[in-house]
Amino acid sequence: MRKKSSNIFILSVILLLMACMKTGNKKELAIINKAPSVFIKEKVNNLLSQMTLEEKIGQMNQYNGFWDVTGPSPKDGDAAKKYEHLKKGWVGSMLNVRGVKNIRAVQKIAIEDTRLGIPLIIGFDVIHGYKTLSPIPLAEAASWDLDAIKKSAQMAAEEAASAGINWTFAPMVDISRDARWGRAMEGAGEDPYLGSKIAIARVEGFQGDDLSKHHTIVACAKHFAGYGFSESGRDYNTVDIGTSTLYNIVFPPFQATIDAGVKTFMNSFNELNGIPATGNTYLQRDILKEKWNFDGFVVSDWGSMTEMIAHGHAKDLKHAAEISANAGSDMDMESYAYVNELANLVREGKVKENLIDDAARRILTVKFELGLFEDPYKYLDEKREKETIGNQKFHKASLEMAKKSIVLLKNKKNLLPLKKKGQKIALIGALATDKTSPLGNWRIAAEDNSAVSVLEGMQKYKGNKLTYSKGADVSIGKTDFITEVKLNVSDKSGFKKAIAVAKKADVVVMVLGEHGFQSGEGRSRTELGLPGVQQELLETVFKVNKNIVLVLNNGRPLTINWADKNIPAIVEAWQLGSQSGNAIAEVLYGDYNPSGKLPMSFPRNVGQIPIYYNYKNTGRPNLPGPDVVFWSHYQDEKNTPLYPFGYGLSYTTFRYSNLKTTMLDKKVKVSFDLTNTGHLKGKEVAQLYVRDLVASITRPVRELKGFELVELKSKETKKIEFTLTNKELGFYNNSGKFIVEPGSFKIFIGGSSTTSLETQVELK
Ligand code: BGC
Repeated sequence: MRKKSSNIFILSVILLLMACMKTGNKKELAIINKAPSVFIKEKVNNLLSQMTLEEKIGQMNQYNGFWDVTGPSPKDGDAAKKYEHLKKGWVGSMLNVRGVKNIRAVQKIAIEDTRLGIPLIIGFDVIHGYKTLSPIPLAEAASWDLDAIKKSAQMAAEEAASAGINWTFAPMVDISRDARWGRAMEGAGEDPYLGSKIAIARVEGFQGDDLSKHHTIVACAKHFAGYGFSESGRDYNTVDIGTSTLYNIVFPPFQATIDAGVKTFMNSFNELNGIPATGNTYLQRDILKEKWNFDGFVVSDWGSMTEMIAHGHAKDLKHAAEISANAGSDMDMESYAYVNELANLVREGKVKENLIDDAARRILTVKFELGLFEDPYKYLDEKREKETIGNQKFHKASLEMAKKSIVLLKNKKNLLPLKKKGQKIALIGALATDKTSPLGNWRIAAEDNSAVSVLEGMQKYKGNKLTYSKGADVSIGKTDFITEVKLNVSDKSGFKKAIAVAKKADVVVMVLGEHGFQSGEGRSRTELGLPGVQQELLETVFKVNKNIVLVLNNGRPLTINWADKNIPAIVEAWQLGSQSGNAIAEVLYGDYNPSGKLPMSFPRNVGQIPIYYNYKNTGRPNLPGPDVVFWSHYQDEKNTPLYPFGYGLSYTTFRYSNLKTTMLDKKVKVSFDLTNTGHLKGKEVAQLYVRDLVASITRPVRELKGFELVELKSKETKKIEFTLTNKELGFYNNSGKFIVEPGSFKIFIGGSSTTSLETQVELK
């Protein structure tokens, strides 16, 4: 019975569709477009057949929020032009318009004033939260907790969606081995395996099971590709990497997002093998759309089409539009290249109209999947916005995520956890009272001064005497999204008071590091020590009190050799978002036992960069004899990092034992025992690394191929098992083919990438 009625329904929609194709009537179109999702393909084709070339190109055009959208319409200049384009249906998407009222204003124009009433898709950089911020993505990666990371993305999606946004430019899945690169804060670190798992968690979190729900938003895997490898860590710089690195390191997290159903990709500012990513056919068509079968759409990065002129690849904007469209960039973010040039290029035969159809089809499909044709105002509900933004549930989730992101780097003299009673504690450092910096970069919708500071977090523990002294500033002048942070602090007048306070204390907690706006886009560094006079402050205070707990706030690995040698306890607390101070206080006081592990190696020295755990052995890995020079090393520094990938301590201790392997056909079953040998309950990230000893293309000395976050009571033992399949044992050859070669493999198990517990198996 049900089947029969659905057949009748399908038939009537097809008839309506055919009728509408003849008439092109906006009302009839609207009825068809509201029909159930099984018809998306037909609906898109039907709509496309009604569209003029300019309207199709309009879908490929994205504008930044450009005028007070709820105020009077702009009369002149750029804003007026954009406004006119919007009314003509020449704009398919806008970014950086936020809040229900504003988004409703632009959506209304798209729906009511344009010929076909096609809704806009509204993009925004929801990178680690909207108004309520979770830790920066690199910090979240340190949790290795995929469920928590997924939940964090879910929360961000829900809050942003309530403000009218339906598309985030996240996750950034660029692998980076270079802490000088400021955007390392936005990614999941240096490893493609961990990076892929996190990429999937984030896409699933943002997009949910059903994109047409009003609390899920479209995700965007960016920046395709290679952006994290900009030479010398200087943002926007040239990328020059080999095929093997491209296939085995850069591509996997992107591929993983496709498996997770990501709907959009963003290309990148950099060139790859001499061709800017935005104009790169190999990347966007050959790999992404053909080889990987990606059926969503690709948005350019901001102005990246125009930038091809500066790159020396396009002679003018028209040429840039031609190259980009032919190479598979579907949407132009703020280059004005498509809207101004593409129609002429089609008429001149330089860009085929079927490519325009393909791009518009991809974009319209995503809009249908979001349910925007059924109800273009579905994300726009003032009441929901009011009830949702800043809701306590987001803060609760942010606090949990923040605690999980903290990495205990060192804990000597049992300095941590702090005793809850009877201690005199000195708290030092400008960052300890900062309520803006912990929000980190990419926090456009969050209010300044809205994070819980470390001082506020610690004040909740009332059993101790807590005294604060700033010591020194981290930076001077303005700190915001666009201004260069000035670090030439020279004022040491606060040292005296800090010394006096430290002298009287049992324990000194020093919160030092980078300002939240010192990492992120355009924020590369050549030195990775504590900025300004903070190192001097640390050493000065150390002279009067050696019981220091150093709490680091930073958006990337820092070089902290002196601290590692001298300071008994070091806590990596990144930029942890809105609940930062509460999370740090709970860890310092032992109400939360830290379990984070580094997602990126900490160098000893900037000269070691790029430094990463999955390096190649080289032909000269070992010292050939006493004092002989001819091996792969530095004269003045060790090869190893200060803190390796996967490293992190707990207030309890763990032992790995009983490592066994069993060969099952083409699979390797690995098992071992993990024991909590300490006195506290705790969590450990058990890690499995593989080394393919001989291969047609040399393999890294270790590659992460499995991990599990395990919680154990004191003295509890758990048997852990992993199964390695072709997927974990193979690699991409230089033609991009995934191959598995028989031979000997080493398997390592432990709590960091430098673990020594190993065994060997033979793959037939
Ligand atoms: C960044 C992108 C971002 C875009 C829009 C660009 O500068 O590279 O990651 O999504 O701006 O804000």
